[in-house]
Amino acid sequence: MHAADDVTFVLRPGTITALVGESGSGKSTVARLLARLYQPTAGQVLFDGVDVAGARRRRDLLRYRSQVQMIFQDPFGSLNPVKTIRHHLARPLRIHGRVERGGVEARVQELLETVGLVPAEKYAAKFPHELSGGQRQRVAIARALAVEPAVLVADEPTSMLDVSIRVGILNLMLDLKERERLAFLYVTHDLASARYVADTVLVMYAGQIVEQGAAEQVLQRPLHPYTQLLLASVPDPAVTERAPITARKGLAAAAVDPPPGCRFVERCPLRIPVCSERTPELVEASPGQSARCHVTAPSPARREDLHVEHVQ
Ligand SMILES: Nc1ncnc2c1ncn2[C@@H]1O[C@H](COP(=O)(O)OP(=O)(O)OP(=O)(O)O)[C@@H](O)[C@H]1O
Ligand code: SF4
Ligand SMILES: [Mg+2]
Repeated sequence: MHAADDVTFVLRPGTITALVGESGSGKSTVARLLARLYQPTAGQVLFDGVDVAGARRRRDLLRYRSQVQMIFQDPFGSLNPVKTIRHHLARPLRIHGRVERGGVEARVQELLETVGLVPAEKYAAKFPHELSGGQRQRVAIARALAVEPAVLVADEPTSMLDVSIRVGILNLMLDLKERERLAFLYVTHDLASARYVADTVLVMYAGQIVEQGAAEQVLQRPLHPYTQLLLASVPDPAVTERAPITARKGLAAAAVDPPPGCRFVERCPLRIPVCSERTPELVEASPGQSARCHVTAPSPARREDLHVEHVQ
């Protein structure tokens, strides 16, 4: 199973990188690889230049986990129903030895204030079922922040929340990015929220990154036909009449043993013969924006071929 294949990207401090793509494209697999919940079969995960993909020693893993924390989709499932909020926040502080024994309570309160749960003493004493979904997700974020991470991996952190409280969590992410200089990987299939928070966008299709670049560029001027279709499928109340979407029906290339060629070929409205023969590489087609497409982002070699074909 090639759930994620040939995926390369960089997360920088003080930025939010959105990872978007349809269901089954491999987003959670990438998130879990970064959080070291999955062991990659090949490749590297570099943190501060050190490859942590193969780290197995408890000390190394503990150190890495304190630097890279994960927030899950389901705030209900990620908290223990019989423990107070105080317990959830004090535990990582103790495990990772972040504060002296006497300083735990003060730090718990500080963390709750950081995520906007005030008055902190009131929330610290509550049980998860006494909080709303949005408040629970804030607790999950506070717990992740307890170990002072450099990277937060958030896998669809707002998709189970009511629309009205989603924006509060997105604003909290923006605030933390600025204040704590965190590097965020924000996994979502909601392009509107990616547009709202992200500095960089990665688009995944069938286990591969098919487009990446500055959020504004990718979402304003998408290069890859898949990104173009994704954007065309977002409803826009300002547009009452729109051109029909010209996607072909088809399936993503089987991820078990992917055939050569572009994995989007079955559905692509722009496909040409070479698409089913040669796998396109991720090519920087304009400064800071890359795509994996023979037509809209041809590689230098492919451009030469096209030129030769054209001259003949
Ligand atoms: N433990 C597993 N064993 C085998 N295949 C898996 C496993 N986990 C995921 N997959 C497969 O890997 C592919 C990528 O799954 P992944 O969960 O990363 O997708 P996703 O992009 O997060 O989707 P969604 O938007 O639905 O959360 C899918 O085809 C899925 O069926
Ligand atoms: S390489 Fe070909 S099939 Fe793939 S996205 Fe580009 S035009 Fe479409
Ligand atoms: Mg997922």
